[in-house]
Formats: sequence, C-alpha cells, structure tokens
Amino acid sequence: MKRSLALSSLALLSLAFVCMGAARAADPAPAPNAGAAKKVDWEHMSFDQRKKLMKTSVYPELKKAFQAADPKRFKTFTCATCHGAGATDGKFKMANPALPKLPLDHAGMTALEQKKPEIFKFMETVVKPKVAELIGVAEWAPQNPKGFGCYTCHTVEQAK
Ligand code: HEC
Ligand code: HEC
Repeated sequence: MKRSLALSSLALLSLAFVCMGAARAADPAPAPNAGAAKKVDWEHMSFDQRKKLMKTSVYPELKKAFQAADPKRFKTFTCATCHGAGATDGKFKMANPALPKLPLDHAGMTALEQKKPEIFKFMETVVKPKVAELIGVAEWAPQNPKGFGCYTCHTVEQAK
C-alpha cells in the first residue's frame, strides 16, 4: 500500500485518484469516513443506475452551479439543458448537437475564451471538473484522450 501511495503521488491527478481508491479498497482497516466515501463506477453502471445518479447528484449539483453562474440565463434548468432532445427521446445520448458548437483547434478555443471569458471559465473550472467528479471519471488530458471533456457534451463546429 505504501508503494502504491508513493507511486500515485508522482502520477497524474486522475491516475492518483484511481490508485488511491485501489489502495483504500485493499486496506482492511476501515477508513474513518468509509461510509461517506462513495465510489462511483460509471463505466460499469447500468443505464438505470446512471439515470439515478444523474437525478440525485449531477442534476441538483449542476443546477446550483449553473444558476449561481448566471441566474437569468439558467433560470430554467432541466435535464434537457445538457441533454437536449436526448431528454425527451429517453436515450440521454451525449454529446448534444443542440448545445453551442465548439471549435476543435487550439486557436479557435483561445478566440472563444477571449470572446466569452466568463462562461468559458465557468465551463472549464466548474462544469467540466464537477461533472467528471460526480460520475467518477477522469478528465481529458493529452495523456488521456478519451477522458471527460468539453466534447463529451458539446459537438464540434464545422470548419469554415
Ligand atoms: C450538467 C449536464 C447534465 C445534466 C443537467 C444532466 N446530465 Fe445526464 N449526462 C450528462 C453527461 C455529460 C452524460 C454522459 C457522461 C459520459 O458518458 O461520460 C450523461 C449521461 C446520462 C445518462 C446515461 C446515458 C447512457 O448512454 O448511458 C442518463 C440516463 C442521463 N444522463 C440522464 C439524465 C437525467 C434523467 C437528467 C436530469 C435529472 C440528467 N441526465 C441531467 C450530463 C448531464
Ligand atoms: C456537462 C456538459 C458540459 C461540458 C463538459 C461543457 N459544457 Fe459548455 N455548455 C454546457 C451547457 C448545458 C451550456 C449552456 C447551453 C445553454 O445556454 O442552454 C454550455 C454553454 C457553453 C458556452 C456558451 C456558448 C454561448 O454561445 O454562449 C461555451 C462557450 C461553452 N459551453 C464552452 C465549453 C468549454 C470550452 C468546455 C470545456 C472546457 C465546456 N463548455 C464543457 C454543457 C457543457
């Protein structure tokens, strides 16, 4: 366990999280807060389990965050705010093509950040990390190209 903890401190934050979780699970002594520590295994959850997690955790938490960020714009906040038509057809498939489309390239993203600094920052520092955390998945990184990121929710704008 010592070794995996030492290793994890050197690893990426996301990897560290996974390692710590494994170390904790293997530890026979119950952690002081064992009952409170929730382990979410999104990858292996059924559709219904995911739906329940959305209802009890992602939706209420993100509703608070969106409404704090812009009470007027997000006065109405529903499953459809993220899922669009997926909330009515019952499939909840992401990404949602009805969300504002995002550029894929670095230059385009930088331009968008300059044009809409507040909501961009909110997306980057609150929405993305919070949803990733609540569903227990690692965030996108160059080393983790399949990770949770902007394009998990948004689709890509067509090249002009
Ligand atoms: C803040 C945005 C957001 C809100 C609000 C939200 N969801 Fe989600 N939901 C997501 C994202 C992102 C995913 C996909 C995560 C992934 O695959 O990595 C998802 C996935 C799901 C899935 C799993 C779909 C699948 O194919 O397995 C279900 C079911 C779901 N959401 C239901 C709901 C319900 C019901 C609500 C309202 C109570 C809701 N969601 C609200 C962002 C949101
Ligand atoms: C969990 C889903 C989710 C993720 C992840 C996410 N967004 Fe969003 N984004 C939304 C929702 C929902 C809106 C609000 C759409 C609306 O106004 O109805 C939004 C709005 C925006 C807007 C506003 C566009 C406009 O025209 O006003 C920008 C810009 C944006 N997102 C950029 C990003 C960037 C950049 C990232 C990654 C750092 C990101 N988003 C990650 C769900 C998400």
